[in-house]
Amino acid sequence: MSDPALELKSLTKSFPQRELLRGVDLALVAGGSYVLTGDNGCGKTTLMRIVAGLEAANGGTLRFEGAAIDLGHYPEALRHKLVYVHQQPYLFQTSIAHNIAYGLKMRGVPKRRRELLVREAIAWAGVGHLSNVLPHKLSGGEQQRVALARAKVLNPGLLLLDEPTANLDSDARRQTLALIEALRHENVTVMIATHDREIIAMPHVKRLHLEAGRVNAR
Ligand SMILES: Nc1ncnc2c1ncn2[C@@H]1O[C@H](COP(=O)(O)OP(=O)(O)OP(=O)(O)O)[C@@H](O)[C@H]1O
Ligand SMILES: [Mg+2]
Repeated sequence: MSDPALELKSLTKSFPQRELLRGVDLALVAGGSYVLTGDNGCGKTTLMRIVAGLEAANGGTLRFEGAAIDLGHYPEALRHKLVYVHQQPYLFQTSIAHNIAYGLKMRGVPKRRRELLVREAIAWAGVGHLSNVLPHKLSGGEQQRVALARAKVLNPGLLLLDEPTANLDSDARRQTLALIEALRHENVTVMIATHDREIIAMPHVKRLHLEAGRVNAR
């Protein structure tokens, strides 16, 4: 396989009352799928938010596709490449298509191309029948699938999924699991923070475990 897509060295994060990340080292192979496990409160969300540039670290280095990233001045262009998907995604109260198109529009993707990509993403996520429904009327599982489509359409290098199947009923969970499985065939590196045994047991997924502020391969 190829060089690491993402490499973290000695990443640290402290809060006034607590040293949360105590020197995280990890390397994700490009195109690989990983789960990040660990007890509640061990720092999984914080680690993914730091990688996506949504939160500051105290120290350490991050390399993405070989380039060193200054964690103190997270480059704007990387925000489209390292994409974090929240467990309860925030969707704009407009159509699903607008939600999915928004990031493409921000990147200046021309209208025709945008429309094509949005159609493909809607089909991929299986939400075409919901195109006239406003996001607040969608179920949690449907919102999660729209959020996955919105992230995937940006053609990210790294997708960070935070507990994508938590709080979903069994049908919704099954559909989201199928999308996660389908991501295997996309040219994207995926890291999923989860307690979901079925995701952890997926044969193509490698397991990383966060404990006592450090990440170990399992
Ligand atoms: N801004 C903050 N100030 C102080 N403490 C914080 C802050 N943000 C997070 N924490 C603490 O850091 C710890 C790690 O939180 P985090 O959400 O990263 O854990 P997690 O592994 O994602 O947990 P879960 O499995 O419950 O989602 C928690 O104890 C949390 O209270
Ligand atoms: Mg979390």
